[in-house]
Formats: sequence, C-alpha cells, structure tokens
Amino acid sequence: MNIRLARPDDLAGMQACNLQNLPENYTMRYYLYHAMTWPGLSFVAEDQKGRIVGYILAKIDEEAKEGEAPHGHVTSISVLRSYRRLGIAKKLMLQSQEAMAAIYKASFVSLHVRKSNRAALSLYRDTLGFTVKDIEKGYYADGEDAYAMELSLARFM
Ligand code: ACO
Repeated sequence: MNIRLARPDDLAGMQACNLQNLPENYTMRYYLYHAMTWPGLSFVAEDQKGRIVGYILAKIDEEAKEGEAPHGHVTSISVLRSYRRLGIAKKLMLQSQEAMAAIYKASFVSLHVRKSNRAALSLYRDTLGFTVKDIEKGYYADGEDAYAMELSLARFM
C-alpha cells in the first residue's frame, strides 16, 4: 500500500471511491477546486496496481474571520471496504494534518461526522484525539445531526 499526495489525474478515482463509500458526494468541479486551491492537502492510498483504495479530500477553511489563524478542514475521507482496518485512514489523516500545519500554519483541523458513524467517530476521537465542539442539528441531507469535531495541530508546529 502506498500513500501519496493526490494528483489531478487521481480525482476520478477519488470520486469513484467516494461514491462507493458515502452518501455525501461531490461534483468533479469541487474535487478540482480542492486540488487546484490546496494542492498539498489531499492524499490517496493506492494498491500495487495503482488503483485508488482510499483518499482524504482536505482544504483550508474559507470562513475564518479576519485576524483568525487559518485552520484545516477535512471535506471527506473514505477507504474501500476490503482495505479497512489496516491503518490507511489514520495514515491519510496524519499526512494531511502535517501538511496543513507545515504549509498553511493551520492551528487546528475540523470536520463533520454523522452521529451514527461509529467507525469514523472511533477513528477521530479514540485514535486521533479529536473532540466534539458542537452538534449541528439536521446537518445532513437526510436530516441526521453532525458532530462538529476539532483537533489541535500544535504538535506539528
Ligand atoms: N469500528 C470501530 N473502530 C474503528 C472502525 C470500526 N469499524 N474502523 C476504524 N476504527 C478505529 C479503530 O480504533 C482503528 O484502530 P484499530 O484498527 O487499531 O482498532 C482506527 O480507527 C484506525 O482505523 P483505520 O484502519 O485507519 O481506518 P480505516 O482505514 O478502516 O478507515 C473509515 C476508517 C474511513 C471511517 C472507513 O471505515 C470508511 O471509509 N468508512 C465509510 C466512509 C466514512 O464513513 N467516512 C468518514 C465520513 S466523515 C468525513 O468524511 C469527514
């Protein structure tokens, strides 16, 4: 398994992986926007044949107010079912966090996750140390609430 920075020619594979794994899907234009605007923050996991089996799509939050330190945001992460529990998502998250701190001096990273997503919650809270900052009622299209989670990136500074 190889984890590396995502390139523009990976975007279709990332989108295919996302479509298999999550109900939150994005236009190719949105993938391209991430790749062009924050080219150092998104990563892929590829198998021996170069097929994309996992990805993290990440950005710098654009809603930060003037004077506020920049912070990173994980738009989406997923790993194909047969490649789960191998530590791939953890590695993708750590690579992106390191890049957020090194390139943009991001002070923390944020994300949203469904309240019912036990696997992702365990990854974020128990493995990586994220904490719940807020509950966003009806955040998802089907009405489910989201946990808004954050993690300090101070250890990368
Ligand atoms: N149940 C409980 N804990 C889990 C699970 C699970 N199914 N999966 C991961 N974890 C926790 C464990 O603590 C695990 O460590 P361990 O295996 O040593 O016990 C740790 O997270 C690290 O797991 P990884 O192997 O790195 O995680 P994986 O590569 O399997 O990917 C992911 C986890 C991304 C949540 C995967 O299950 C997936 O793709 N799910 C569907 C898509 C999804 O829910 N994405 C997140 C949406 S939120 C967002 O995108 C911001």
